[in-house]
Amino acid sequence: MSRFVLVTADTEFELRVTRAVTGGLAGRLRVVRTSSAPDGPAGLLTPGSEPTELVLLGPGIPAEEALRLAAAFDVQHPAIAVVLVGAVDPELALAAMRAGVRDLLDPAADPDSIRVLLERALAAAAGRRKDPAAAKPAEEGRIIVVASPKGGVGKTTLATNIAVALGGVAPMSTVLVDLDAQFGDVASALRLEPEHSLADAVGGAAGLDSMVLKTFLSVHHTSIYALCAPTDPAEADRISGEDVGRVLQQLAREFQYVVVDTAPGLGEHALAALEHATEMVLICTMDVPSVRGLREEIDVIDRLGLGTGRRSIAVNLADRGTGLSIRDIEATIKRPVDVVIPRSRDVAYGTNRGIPVLQEKSRSRAAKALRALAGRFEPVPVGGGKGAHKRAVAP
Ligand SMILES: Nc1ncnc2c1ncn2[C@@H]1O[C@H](COP(=O)(O)OP(=O)(O)OP(=O)(O)O)[C@@H](O)[C@H]1O
Ligand SMILES: [Mg+2]
Repeated sequence: MSRFVLVTADTEFELRVTRAVTGGLAGRLRVVRTSSAPDGPAGLLTPGSEPTELVLLGPGIPAEEALRLAAAFDVQHPAIAVVLVGAVDPELALAAMRAGVRDLLDPAADPDSIRVLLERALAAAAGRRKDPAAAKPAEEGRIIVVASPKGGVGKTTLATNIAVALGGVAPMSTVLVDLDAQFGDVASALRLEPEHSLADAVGGAAGLDSMVLKTFLSVHHTSIYALCAPTDPAEADRISGEDVGRVLQQLAREFQYVVVDTAPGLGEHALAALEHATEMVLICTMDVPSVRGLREEIDVIDRLGLGTGRRSIAVNLADRGTGLSIRDIEATIKRPVDVVIPRSRDVAYGTNRGIPVLQEKSRSRAAKALRALAGRFEPVPVGGGKGAHKRAVAP
């Protein structure tokens, strides 16, 4: 067997995958040149010394056949990662997520991008085989924690919109976690009816096995996953800070982006999330208690040395006539505001319908500001360029 199996009749794509593998990945690549998928995994897994870890299906394989084969791999060989090569469209992504496909790869991707995606899929597959040494990916996913001292300032709104926007950048590799374990409303914000919740994810087998953990996630049709809060608030008591930290780390091994919504304040769960954050979005609104609260929260975060990466300060529900300006806020919190999101009917309407504004092509100022906020987390292209240094949205 070979570590990688590629099934396609597209020789030009084959060349790019060959370059990706020979350019830095260990193991051999076997190419099965065909434009239709074999009936089952057995047709692809030939005997040999090197176990197959990753199968690339396409381009050129009819989506239905590829999905059927992927589903068979998921059941018979769950430790093998299947990557589907096809233009990213939300319907295909949703079907692929349900068939257990690990990732979607753009057929036009260059060898470097292909290699990065393969590395990630291999790391996740190694995690499934409980191979801790190999499971350590070259680069773990980013954990973006959205927090605020006060309630009702837009944490859930910002977290859901960031996740939906990142789902466009990293389809199937973005997960939104509702850490507002008592009264979380991510499910309602995305109109999901989750069968499982955070409480399942921290107990029993899921704590040990990434594959079990993945079955507790809900699938949203913008190509993102969600780990929703328990429906019974009493269940929150069973979830410790340690549990939260472990789940977030486990998810970061599987996903490129882990976006975390939190309850107001610095409770045990929020603190655990902030401790593991690679990035934070800290929110206040344009009133004195909210701004003072944010300053105090930042002080605590600094004192405890929480989180390693960048912080984005967002002022939400901004409008004129509050007697406070963005400058006043910056003077109080002693740092620049990065994004200002105006109060907007669109946003409130989106919450009530369970459709985040960024799921649609809204051009409102609030949608633009939310897009700019999400853009801060997009990958920086090699050599800089778009996304390298996003400027703050002007108030
Ligand atoms: N920019 C905005 N314009 C208009 N309405 C907004 C905006 N941001 C948030 N809202 C609305 O404010 C309400 C509270 O927002 P959200 O639930 O996101 O806050 P939260 O901080 O998560 O609250 P909690 O602390 O209770 O979890 C929602 O109805 C939401 O639609
Ligand atoms: Mg909330």
